[in-house]
Amino acid sequence: MAKTKRIGILTSGGDSPGLNAAIRGVGKAALGFYRMEIIGFRDGFRGLAENRRIRLEKNTLAGILTVGGTILGTSRDKPHRMIIDGHPRDMTDVIARNYQKLGLDALVCLGGGGTQKNALRLAQRGLRVLTLPKTIDNDVVMTDSTFGFDTALGIATEAIDRLHSTAHSHHRIVVAEIMGHRSGWLALGAGIAGGADVILIPEIPYDVGKIAQAIQKRSRQGTNFSIVAVAEGAMSKEDARAFLSAEQKKEKARTQVARHAAQLELGALEAKHTGNTLRLAKQLEQLTQLESRVTILGYVQRGGTPSAADRLLATRLGTACADLIQKGVCGVMVAARGEGAEPVPLEKVAGKRKTVALDHPWVESARRVGTCLGD
Ligand code: F6P
Repeated sequence: MAKTKRIGILTSGGDSPGLNAAIRGVGKAALGFYRMEIIGFRDGFRGLAENRRIRLEKNTLAGILTVGGTILGTSRDKPHRMIIDGHPRDMTDVIARNYQKLGLDALVCLGGGGTQKNALRLAQRGLRVLTLPKTIDNDVVMTDSTFGFDTALGIATEAIDRLHSTAHSHHRIVVAEIMGHRSGWLALGAGIAGGADVILIPEIPYDVGKIAQAIQKRSRQGTNFSIVAVAEGAMSKEDARAFLSAEQKKEKARTQVARHAAQLELGALEAKHTGNTLRLAKQLEQLTQLESRVTILGYVQRGGTPSAADRLLATRLGTACADLIQKGVCGVMVAARGEGAEPVPLEKVAGKRKTVALDHPWVESARRVGTCLGD
């Protein structure tokens, strides 16, 4: 008789709607359809390092499809640099030992860009790893989309809808900061869907003077309010130049000292970026003489029940993942492709980020409807 397969599953990185739907998808297909055993690790890679786990059974997976967050808990811990008793430690060997001791046939890691890199490291250490792409940022390469994005898009769009009436009533500029890390998918998507007048994304560095001109033009035409949807990673042309130069220095650095110096420069620029949205709103107020207000949407975008599209995507990818494990496939991310799913080697995904191309149809559409993109 064939040995029962035993698989592990964990969620890592920032939480996102659809994680539980994906756990359920993998779990139900693995348990019910393929008769595998499934172990959930708590709080991402830390749970695997510390051997904190629960056996996932039919009843653990029941009723979680519509629930936000992750029943397993999550963390941003990296296997090769985990803080243990206040000090960074490489826990890769410990993780590999725990994986072996538990007799796992595969480990499923649900996460975004960072998780793909960490999963690849474990795959290179000999673990049979598969990943699923989740993040509200939609910035994972080689997949049509990531689960979590659709829900966050809906929340951010609704927020912009609501900001319209108050901005209109008070004749104000309302600047809405939207998540997305260093990609503009969420701000661009919600900005278009919500009809923002200005959309600022990291991929298109802005000139504050041009934004002010667009707002003033609206005022001259009799519309004395404006909605500015700004991605948290958006920056002015000058700041973008400084970032690029520090990043290039880091890439070119030949010595440890040069790398460290470039890293410090990047850190200082990142620290300076904090509060950028508030500064932008102040600048626009000064330049246009229109009162301005800021709304930071923040974690509201990641919380709560997943949309139908995210439940569907997470279930589709989760069940496809169980199929691949059954076939003995590993070292891949289960990507969304058209109506189906497709395994993509982790090497092609790890360390890369999907950004908005300057000629992407969304960018073109935004320009066509007269949205100012700050350039
Ligand atoms: O990657 C998802 C995300 O929500 C980003 O949009 C945001 O920049 C980041 O996570 C926030 O991370 P944390 O939960 O660690 O504050």
